[in-house]
Amino acid sequence: MNLIMKMLAAPATVLALWAVSVSAQAATNDDIAKRLEPVGQVCVQGKECKGMEVATAAGGGGGAKTPDEVIAKHCNACHGSGLLGAPKIGDAAAWKDRADHQGGLDGILAKAITGINSMPPKGTCADCSDAELKGAIQKMSGLK
Ligand code: HEC
Repeated sequence: MNLIMKMLAAPATVLALWAVSVSAQAATNDDIAKRLEPVGQVCVQGKECKGMEVATAAGGGGGAKTPDEVIAKHCNACHGSGLLGAPKIGDAAAWKDRADHQGGLDGILAKAITGINSMPPKGTCADCSDAELKGAIQKMSGLK
């Protein structure tokens, strides 16, 4: 006699097995609900929501990029080593010389926005605002 036949022959066994599997399912659903609970509870608008501020910062949607962030992500690739003839970070004389010949900080900012020779437009930071670029330039050059 195979297993199915055995079960059919003994309805009580089938019922018992069914009851066990239903209660096991219920326990699983309870477990899932419990695990989801903290997320639903904590992240309600207007209430404290641990982890959300981290997500916002990582998303970069709102806050301005700091000069250090812009430099590390975009400018350092060339200006860190002077690649392609880029004025080096901290080489105040090289930056000042450029500023003196090109209308000061705002003059070289304008060139950084449009790009100049091997210097790509916005130094590859396409979503940088002018103010963020200016902050990065000030930090790299020491110009005020
Ligand atoms: C792919 C390399 C590269 C990257 C990335 C880069 N630069 Fe440059 N940058 C250059 C080079 C090369 C020059 C010199 C261009 C020249 O005068 O021929 C330069 C020059 C400049 C100047 C002087 C412009 C002038 O008028 O003399 C500024 C300001 C500047 N970069 C800002 C930035 C900023 C801010 C970033 C980052 C957001 C950045 N650069 C990223 C290569 C780069």
